[in-house]
Amino acid sequence: MRDKAEDLKGGTAVITGAGSGIGEGIARVAAARGMNVVLADVADDRIAKLAAEIEAGGATALPVVTNVTDVAALERLADAAYDHFGEVRLLVNNAGIETIGFSWEIDDATWDKLLSINVRGVVHGSRIFARRMLESGKPGYISNVASIGALGMMPTQAPYMMSKHAVLSFTECLYLEMQLKGAPIHVSAVLPAQVATRIFEDAPADRQCEFVERQRGMMMSMLSQMGLSPVEAGEVILDGIASGEFWVSTHPETTVQMACARAQYLRTLANPVLAEQAKALVS
Ligand SMILES: NC(=O)c1ccc[n+]([C@@H]2O[C@H](COP(=O)([O-])OP(=O)(O)OC[C@H]3O[C@@H](n4cnc5c(N)ncnc54)[C@H](O)[C@@H]3O)[C@@H](O)[C@H]2O)c1
Repeated sequence: MRDKAEDLKGGTAVITGAGSGIGEGIARVAAARGMNVVLADVADDRIAKLAAEIEAGGATALPVVTNVTDVAALERLADAAYDHFGEVRLLVNNAGIETIGFSWEIDDATWDKLLSINVRGVVHGSRIFARRMLESGKPGYISNVASIGALGMMPTQAPYMMSKHAVLSFTECLYLEMQLKGAPIHVSAVLPAQVATRIFEDAPADRQCEFVERQRGMMMSMLSQMGLSPVEAGEVILDGIASGEFWVSTHPETTVQMACARAQYLRTLANPVLAEQAKALVS
């Protein structure tokens, strides 16, 4: 096991979706552990405020307004990080959104928006930073935030679930590509379970639909009552990234349970089964 604190200390971390929740938690913890942090988000006010707080605490933070669906904006983010700090040791592709509703009732714009942020944002972020990290020849870390949902299935969250399966699959391939190259870039997949964030509050969905709003309420109260705080999640995630493991989990026992259930489902080629949590939504 590597020295968790020392491996990343003194390097630069670029974190997308750093304006709230898990991204903000990772940024605060990375700064407290001696990293320079580049805060990328569409929420310009939130990253400006967070950067000021981090700088007041004695660390260095650079807010860069970035829409991860825009490849040119991701290139500008990389330019800003390398121009300012000369290197990037850690990229966390964390920005992501949720949706709620039956697949056919979610409109095309919402489907496209979610897939663009959750999938294209991760792919192009990885691609753009991987090239620069490889060129530098220095050790680096690329960490993609999927979800415990990448191991499961959940009706009425189809765009989100499929996006997280895609992020996990992409990240597995990227890991192997770095192995093929013998590159010093450690790739990991982050599978958070419950973390108390604004993700369901902000989820684009039909606010006139009683069913959708009931589900939003249930998910919001589940995260606020049972979730880790973003900073607690940030600590566990940064430890996991630095440990050199591929799988990084905020709730390791839940991850193992979900992985075993998935393995059993695939081994037996069973039909998809409605979870009790899903049944509760329509009862
Ligand atoms: N909260 C949880 O319990 C949980 C569980 C599993 C996975 N995750 C994943 O963790 C990641 C972070 O989620 P969170 O819960 O902290 O959510 P959050 O809503 O608190 O934070 C997400 C951040 O991403 C930003 N963002 C949205 N669209 C963007 C875009 N186009 N470009 C750049 N930034 C954008 C938002 O402004 C926000 O600041 C997501 O990928 C999510 O799927 C969260």
